[in-house]
Amino acid sequence: MPIQRFSVKDFRCLANIEFEADPRYNLIYGANASGKTSVLEALGYLGRGKSFRGAPTTNLIRHGQREFVLFGRVEAGGRHSSVGVRNSSNGLEVRIDGQSDGGAAALAAALPLQIVDPDVHELVAGAPEQRRRYLDWIAFHVEHGYLDVWRRFRRALKQRNAALKSGAAIPTIRGWNTEFVELAQQVDTGRRFALEVASQALHETGLGLLGSEVRFEYRGGWSEDRSLLDTLETSLERDVQQGSTQAGPHRADLKLIYDERQARRLVSRGQQKLLACAMVLAATETAQAALERPLLLLLDDPAAELDSDALLRLMGRVKDLGCQVIATSLQRDTELFDREVAVFHVEHGELEREA
Ligand SMILES: Nc1ncnc2c1ncn2[C@@H]1O[C@H](COP(=O)(O)OP(=O)(O)OP(=O)(O)O)[C@@H](O)[C@H]1O
Ligand SMILES: [Mg+2]
Repeated sequence: MPIQRFSVKDFRCLANIEFEADPRYNLIYGANASGKTSVLEALGYLGRGKSFRGAPTTNLIRHGQREFVLFGRVEAGGRHSSVGVRNSSNGLEVRIDGQSDGGAAALAAALPLQIVDPDVHELVAGAPEQRRRYLDWIAFHVEHGYLDVWRRFRRALKQRNAALKSGAAIPTIRGWNTEFVELAQQVDTGRRFALEVASQALHETGLGLLGSEVRFEYRGGWSEDRSLLDTLETSLERDVQQGSTQAGPHRADLKLIYDERQARRLVSRGQQKLLACAMVLAATETAQAALERPLLLLLDDPAAELDSDALLRLMGRVKDLGCQVIATSLQRDTELFDREVAVFHVEHGELEREA
């Protein structure tokens, strides 16, 4: 099971909690502001080194404290490991089996997880960056070496942009093009491959949740009928004016085609959530197959925005995945799972397991 034991100290309203997770289904319920999302946020932090609510670290440390500490015992394929995170004004400190190198990428490898929260529809309706991150996450888990390529690309982009901003001479900027294009193409190939690997899961999950065909198209961030090198050459003047590179994988998007029309504009909020859930579940399924281990899926108030039929379909797909699930709810909705589930009650930041 992905997470066996988990403890939290001074994270948000959680002073000190500890829990033993069920390998399959866990439900955390409690009133508004009791600390449900904070528990999932802490778990999310342990697997990503950042808050899924996008909050800065200072907001995460419990008021009046100087640091938070998270610890998890993780199991994958019979191998146990301990994952620890401490965050204070000195920054993030990651420890995996006592080793302190690796940072957020090491956390993502040790505790791969996906999250469905009430803002999940942003994956469909929000900015392209979220969808790029989505594809990058899949690529990270299905392709060795993708992270390295991605990091090198980010560095090349930063350097080219710095040259543009500082008003460097044209030959200096052109000097960055070859490396930039080479790495851009590798990122592009990596993302297209990730989408290809996930395409069947995306198709089936989309069909299962929405009852209709959903297609996804990757747009690389420059015109398809021109090489990136040509594009950079033509847009050089504009790049100089803007002080940043206008074409490349940092401008890519994943276009969602739903009923032959663009999902982003046409679907209702509930449908957007279902579509986004289909994406999250398909990513989970794809990574699980590549890593040959079950992932952790965090569901924060899955019932929000969904009618009872849609919720049923969502939970049905979740159960088919065979992953470990930790869900939150305002009520003691054990029927969400219709099978054995470990139930935890949270109140004023304290968590207690129910018999
Ligand atoms: N840094 C912090 N220190 C102490 N308390 C905090 C901190 N950040 C947030 N809180 C408080 O934690 C409480 C729990 O928030 P959380 O979002 O986890 O609640 P929730 O149970 O998910 O509520 P809801 O049902 O409304 O989603 C809130 O009252 C919030 O004000
Ligand atoms: Mg909440």
